[in-house]
Amino acid sequence: MPVIAEIADLKRIYKRRVPKMFYDYAESGSWTEQTFRENTTDFDKIRLRQRVAVDMTGRTTKTQMIGHDVSMPVALAPVGITGMQHADGEILAAKAAEKFGVPFTLSTMSVCSIEDVASNTSAPFWFQVYTLKDDDFMRRLMARAKDAKCSAIVITLDLQVLGQRHKDIKNGLSAPPKLTVKSVANMATKWGWGLNMLQTHRRSFGNIIGHVDSVSDPRSLSTWTAEAFDPALNWERVKELRRMWDGPVILKGILDVEDAKKALDVGADAIIVSNHGGRQLDGALSAIRVLGPIVDAVGDKIEVHFDSGIRSGQDVLKAMAMGAKGTYIGRAYIYGLGAMGQAGVTKALEVIHKELDTSMALCGRTDITDVDRDILMIPEDFEGRWANR
Ligand code: FNR
Repeated sequence: MPVIAEIADLKRIYKRRVPKMFYDYAESGSWTEQTFRENTTDFDKIRLRQRVAVDMTGRTTKTQMIGHDVSMPVALAPVGITGMQHADGEILAAKAAEKFGVPFTLSTMSVCSIEDVASNTSAPFWFQVYTLKDDDFMRRLMARAKDAKCSAIVITLDLQVLGQRHKDIKNGLSAPPKLTVKSVANMATKWGWGLNMLQTHRRSFGNIIGHVDSVSDPRSLSTWTAEAFDPALNWERVKELRRMWDGPVILKGILDVEDAKKALDVGADAIIVSNHGGRQLDGALSAIRVLGPIVDAVGDKIEVHFDSGIRSGQDVLKAMAMGAKGTYIGRAYIYGLGAMGQAGVTKALEVIHKELDTSMALCGRTDITDVDRDILMIPEDFEGRWANR
C-alpha cells in the first residue's frame, strides 16, 4: 500500500490506473489552460499569517452549508462521467462523502443515475442540474431528484455551450469509450480499471439515456451538450427553474459581481464562485481572485460558496478566510477515486481535513467559522488593476 501524504500522491496513482482518455478529461482546462493553471497558482500567491502561543485545544472544522451540518466545509463537486474514472464511481464517492459527513453533489451527466445513488446511500445528496431544452425532461428530472430525497439542487450556469478541451477531441472522449486501436491498446494496460468496469452494468449517461429523446451520438458528452443543452438559458429561465424546486437552490458558476447580484434577485440560497475548474472560459480570472470582491458585494445577503483550484486544506482555509461559507473539490477527489475507489475518496478528504485543521491551528485559530482575512497576507494587486474595471 503506497503512502499517501498529499493529494499529488493520489494523482500519480490515478494517472497510472485510469485510461488516458479519462485522465485527460479531468486533468485539463479549455484552450490554452491559462485559467486552469492560474486557479491553483493564484492560491500560492496568498500567504498565511503564523501566530504563536495561542491555545489550540478544542479545535473544530464543523460548520453548516445551506443549513446542513458538515464535518468540514468541503463538499464533493458535481463531476460528469465519474463512473468512467472508476466503476460505479458516483456511488463510491457518495458513500465516502456520507461517511465523512460532507455533501456529495451528483452531476446531471453522471454514469450512475439519481435513483442508483439514492438506493446505495442513506444521507441525502445534492443534485446538479444542467438545463436541457426539453422542458418535460427538466420537470421529470426535478421530480426524480425530489423522489430520491435530494436535499438541494445546484444549477450550473456557466455551461450553456461547451468550452473546448483539445485533448477530449483528440482522444475521442465518450462514455463508454469507443473501441479504437488506440483506446483498446491503452485500456489493455489498465487491467484493474477494466476488470471493475466489466463487473458493472453502469457505463453510460444514467440520468438521461432512456429519459430523453436520443441525440445523434448518445455516448458523446460534446454531442449531448451541443444538441440537448439549452443555449437560451437566461435569468428569467433561472427564476422558473428556481420555482420548480421547493428546497434550497445553489447557483454555480458565478465569476462576476454583477452576476452575483442577479443571483440574489432570483432568490437563490447560495452561489458558487467558480469558473468550472478552468474548463469553460479560458482567459477568465482564477476563481480565488474574484472571491473577495463577490463576498464584499453580496456576502451579507447570500451564502457564498467557492470552487476551482482547491488541492489542499490550506486552499480551503484561504477560501474560507476570504469569506466563503463552504467549498467544493472536483479533481482532488477524482484523483482519489481513480487511484483507489471509495478508499481513495476518503483518503482525499482525510488529507484535506488534516491540512485544514493543522494550518488553521498554526494561524492561531480554533474554529473554522471564525477565520477571516486577518489570517491572510494578500498581495496588494491580487484582484488585479484592469483598465476598464
Ligand atoms: C467538472 N465540473 C462539472 N460541473 C458541473 O456543474 N457539472 C458537471 O457535470 C461537471 N463535470 C466536470 C467534470 C470534470 C472532469 C471536472 C474536473 C469538473 C466542474 C466541477 O463541478 C468543479 O466546478 C471543478 O471541478 C472545480 O475545480 P477543481 O476543484 O477541479 O479545480
